[in-house]
Amino acid sequence: MQVLRTVQELRIWSRRQHAAGKTVGLVPTMGALHAGHASLIRAAAASCDAVAVSIFVNPTQFGPNEDFDRYPRSFAADCRLAEEAEAAVVFAPAVEEMYTPGAESFVDAGPLSAKLDGASRPGHFRGVATIVAKLFIAAEPDRAFFGQKDAAQVAVLRRIARDLGFGVELVACPIVREADGLALSSRNAYLSAEERRQALVLSRAVHFVASLFATGEQNADALKEAAQGILATEPAVRVDYVKLVDNQTLDSVELAQPGSLFAVAAWVGATRLIDNTLLG
Ligand code: PAJ
Repeated sequence: MQVLRTVQELRIWSRRQHAAGKTVGLVPTMGALHAGHASLIRAAAASCDAVAVSIFVNPTQFGPNEDFDRYPRSFAADCRLAEEAEAAVVFAPAVEEMYTPGAESFVDAGPLSAKLDGASRPGHFRGVATIVAKLFIAAEPDRAFFGQKDAAQVAVLRRIARDLGFGVELVACPIVREADGLALSSRNAYLSAEERRQALVLSRAVHFVASLFATGEQNADALKEAAQGILATEPAVRVDYVKLVDNQTLDSVELAQPGSLFAVAAWVGATRLIDNTLLG
């Protein structure tokens, strides 16, 4: 597996694949790779001839008081994981390679950017949309793979891919969880043993709502109250949002339907975690 550092190298690599009649899959990540990322890379390798994994801790998607500086970085281990999952190349650019000093242009996904996590993290989705657009332009992928774990991110990126005509197919992959239900996240590394235990209320709440819906409960307030009840069993966990929304518009719905998105975000100590389920 090769490590590429510049946009030019990535573009040349991708064009070589296409010239040889191969399809190119792209898996954008910020590194600190875990089994959730591996599942995306494997899905890409199963449906594309050549897979590029990008590893770039993107400064523009972090707020001023967020964890950009201490975000976990484990490049050597990431490369081993990417190679085992059958990536052909890792693209790991420097910040100056992706953001020319003085750059002032950004990609704005419109109203979607201010919903769910966008409401709690102003500017976050502008940064995500901008870097992913830049990766699409550099890698010219046929398909790009994202985790349903970040459901709002998937909605935002589908929107920009459609609105800006990137001609790339977005594939959303299921959430990978620990055996006890906790959704894998690079940020789980921040949790103490006690916080790790407390964090389980997120997946418990999500699973409970999914099971209530499966037994016929469709009322949004009832579903959200049930989730709030579970989250309240860990008083140290501070809820950011509990929402039932349309999967594409991210607008709240009053009646859950198959495909409605139930999503939670909460602070466990200093760590903000998210989880969700697509109902039905
Ligand atoms: P990162 O948090 O590294 O996640 C990279 C991809 O892995 C995302 O599509 C995310 O949804 C997916 N992922 C994370 N945890 C997962 C899990 N438990 N199961 C399945 N997939 C999971 O998301 C980002 O990076 C960035 O915002 C990025 C898109 C790379 C832009 O900078």
